[in-house]
Amino acid sequence: MNEKAHEPAPPGPASVVFGAALPQAQRFVELLTAAGVERGLIGPREVDRLWDRHLLNSAVVGERIPGNARVVDLGSGAGLPGIPLILARPDLHVTMLEPMARRVAWLEEVVDALSLSATVVRGRAEEPAIKQRLAGADVVIARAVAPLDRLWGWSAPLLRSGGRLVALKGESAEAELARDGAAVTRTGGGHLAVERCGVGVLDVPTTIIEVERMTATGREGNRGRRGHTGSRRAKKDQGH
Ligand SMILES: C[S@@+](CC[C@H](N)C(=O)[O-])C[C@H]1O[C@@H](n2cnc3c(N)ncnc32)[C@H](O)[C@@H]1O
Repeated sequence: MNEKAHEPAPPGPASVVFGAALPQAQRFVELLTAAGVERGLIGPREVDRLWDRHLLNSAVVGERIPGNARVVDLGSGAGLPGIPLILARPDLHVTMLEPMARRVAWLEEVVDALSLSATVVRGRAEEPAIKQRLAGADVVIARAVAPLDRLWGWSAPLLRSGGRLVALKGESAEAELARDGAAVTRTGGGHLAVERCGVGVLDVPTTIIEVERMTATGREGNRGRRGHTGSRRAKKDQGH
């Protein structure tokens, strides 16, 4: 991959969020700044806000994901939120799902360039072969892919009972929940909530919608609700 200089420097919270993986996060920013823009994976106007609006915003969502979870990043695009999440939470088993060939090629190149342990799968979430291959995930994570009701329809078949959709939604979260909440509940979703990640770390915390896949009886999943782990820094603080 070709790259030029001019990539933005990491802001203060980057070392807190990425810890020992900060050099890899910087490398990802370099790749996005040069090859990512040239190949149309990210708009040139995004370069100055890569850290805040893309990498950090994505990585802090790890706060809501249990240790060693199987995670599907549905519609990964340029690798968001998947790549920052993998860097901040190397314990996770992340599959990046993406239908477009040129984005899949990019994701494979990034995984290789950063020496990551992650899987890239080409396909659409609603395809039978994809459902069969990825079913049983603990968490489906997605950003900027579809409105909540459609996103839930694609995510639910990939989740184990008790697993959760974590959708990065920003300002629209409350309105989407009000609009689509009833439809999501009718189709097996429960414990719907708007949460904020990165509070006290980022200037603008990330707003997410969470939905849990309920069992057929409408109760919580048979593996129950597992406790959340913290960020990489929090894990260090806990002696992990
Ligand atoms: C607007 S982009 C967002 C990419 C990335 N998540 C981000 O936040 O930068 C939406 C992505 O979802 C993918 N996508 C759309 N429909 C999908 C589906 N049914 N299953 C999987 N991915 C899908 C698209 O190919 C595209 O890469």
